[in-house]
This record gives sequence, C-alpha cells and structure tokens, in this order.
Amino acid sequence: MTCTLLTGGFGYIGSHTAAILAENNQKFVIVDNFTNCKKDVVNRLEKITKQKVNFFEVDVRDTEALVKIIKENKVTSVIHFAALKSVSDSIMRPLEYYEVNVKGTISLLKAMSYSGLKKFLFSSTAAVYGEPDSCPIDEKHKLNPLNPYAQTKIIIEKILQDISKADNEWSIAILRYFNPIGAHQSGLIGDDPLLKENSNLMPEIIKVVNGSINYLNVFGNDYETSDGTGVRDYIHIMDLSEAHVTALEYVNKNTGLNFFNIGTGKGVSVLELIKTFEKVSGFRIPIKISNRRKGDCAVCFADPKKANDILDWKSNHDLYQMCESAWKFVIKNRI
Ligand SMILES: NC(=O)c1ccc[n+]([C@@H]2O[C@H](COP(=O)([O-])OP(=O)(O)OC[C@H]3O[C@@H](n4cnc5c(N)ncnc54)[C@H](O)[C@@H]3O)[C@@H](O)[C@H]2O)c1
Repeated sequence: MTCTLLTGGFGYIGSHTAAILAENNQKFVIVDNFTNCKKDVVNRLEKITKQKVNFFEVDVRDTEALVKIIKENKVTSVIHFAALKSVSDSIMRPLEYYEVNVKGTISLLKAMSYSGLKKFLFSSTAAVYGEPDSCPIDEKHKLNPLNPYAQTKIIIEKILQDISKADNEWSIAILRYFNPIGAHQSGLIGDDPLLKENSNLMPEIIKVVNGSINYLNVFGNDYETSDGTGVRDYIHIMDLSEAHVTALEYVNKNTGLNFFNIGTGKGVSVLELIKTFEKVSGFRIPIKISNRRKGDCAVCFADPKKANDILDWKSNHDLYQMCESAWKFVIKNRI
C-alpha cells in the first residue's frame, strides 16, 4: 500500500488534493503548521472523506520530526505544497520567503534522503516565467522571476534538478500551477487563507461580498489586453488537484525529473472573471482601478500540452463552474 505525505495539506490546494486522493482510495498523511489555514479544515476534510485524517502539526523545517513521520507512516511519496505564496508579501518580507520556501524544502528533501524516499511532486508556479515573451507558455519558456516568491520557486527547481542529476533513482514532477480558483463541490472547503497578505483575486472578491472590504482593487487597466486588465489562466481547483493524482501515478512508474504546466490554456481578464462571478452570484462587485502592481505581468496563460499528453490529464471545468463553486463555498459558510 502506498502512502503519500502532503506537506501543507490543509491549505487551499493541499486539502482539495487530499479529498481527491481519498476518493481514489489512496492513503495519505498531512503535515501542516497551520500558519495559513483554519483548524476547522481538519473536520471539514473528515466530513468529505468520511475518514479520520492522519495529520501532524509540524513545521517542514523540522527535519527530525519529518524523518519520524515518514518512517512511522511508511510514506512512499511526497507532495510538497507547504510554502508562503503571496507575491506582494514576498517583496516586503523576502527573508521569510527564502526561509520557509527554500529552507523548508531543503529540510524536507533531507528527511526524504535520510529515509531513502525518492518520489516527489513539487508545487511550483507560473510566476517563474515572469512577463512571458509570448503566450501560450510552454515549459521551455525562459525563466524570469519578477519577485522573491518566484525566485524561491526557481531556486527549489534548480535544487531538484541537481538532486535528480546526482541520483537517477529520484522521480520528480515539478508542477507549475497557473491560477487556481473555485472550491470543492461539497462547499465545505475552498480558498480561505488566514494570512491577509495572501489574497489572490477570488478571496478578494469574497471579501467584498462579505463586507470586509468595500470595493475590489483592480491593479492596472492600461495593459495591452482586450479590456486593459491583466489576463490569467484560471483553473478550477478540482482540475488542478486531479493533476496531482495523475502526476503521482507518473512518478510512481518513472524516474527522472519533469516539468509540467498545469493550466487550461485559456486566458481570462480580471474584468471577465468579475463579470462572470457577478452573473453567477447576482452580487455586484464594486471595483476601483489602482496602479499596476509591482511584479505583475500583462498576460499569462499556459500551454498545458505536455501534461495533457504525458500525464493524460486535462482541465474539464469552465469559468462559470469555477465561479459557481466559489459562490457555493461563500453561501454555505457565510464567509
Ligand atoms: N494558490 C495559488 O494561486 C498558487 C499558484 C501557484 C503555486 N502555488 C503553490 O502551491 C502551494 C500550495 O498553495 P496554496 O494555495 O494551497 O497555499 P496555502 O497557503 O493555502 O497552503 C499552504 C499550506 O502550507 C502550510 N504551511 C506554510 N508554511 C509551512 C511550514 N513551514 N511548515 C508546514 N506547513 C506550512 C500553511 O499552513 C497552509 O496550510 C504553495 O507552494 C504555493 O506556492 C499556489
């Protein structure tokens, strides 16, 4: 029986991936220090999975604790979600990002090495491409980090490449996520970060809905895009999470290192997303146009062909369904 360690498994992407692993009868154990998720996620995940969730409140920088967890739970593979993820916060607090993201990953990789564990999925990001030369972006596109957050992910990608070169028994998939939004179909889990600096677009929209802010800041309407606002590749969280199941299968059967873009291949502007959310919810989202944000690019969407072909995975949900599930999460939890 295999057992996958999910670091950061109670966060947004980790919890949805755990739900899908459970649905596929795959065993997992979670390590999370609860810096960016509510403790209540544990109960919610147990409701969804109809099982007791095996977890440890541990920081990934604690190598010794990780070795013990890996050994005692007979872990056979690792998905490493745990990280700090806010672009703007990383510009203000770069050291924290290098500390948690880079040092945390080194600690985890050491724990894996000490335990003879060599199957690894890593949560990277489209932010590694920075301002792309052209779209869609494939995995060979040059890297151009525009902020410390993206820089930490590139450093980790390089470490993983070196590990793979040094020992060809390692099997590593680096998943470069585009922009996950939406929530689990139960409405029990969704994107609900604790750290306020973390906010991606959908959590910000939700803050307007629940009245904690009066309007949505749209950063820049003078980009060279159809309506002037930034264009991103929004992907349903369930599609993104599903990619981990297929990537896990892949690393279990193959060795070596591979990069995969996990996106839909479609670009959607900020205004388009807001309008779709308004249509789904019947709620008007007042906006304020602000200056462009440092570290943001105009257009970014994936060429997901490699993941489509090699992992036999593709996204299935459209923008309307993404907004619908996010809205269901809001209504169900009155967040
Ligand atoms: N959400 C996105 O838009 C997005 C896009 C691209 C890449 N990513 C990457 O995907 C991964 C997961 O993102 P997410 O959106 O689920 O983030 P998240 O913040 O919701 O989840 C991360 C989880 O890791 C935990 N954590 C943080 N530091 C830790 C530490 N030192 N030790 C143990 N646990 C720790 C947090 O408590 C949280 O539960 C991250 O690596 C992120 O950089 C996210």
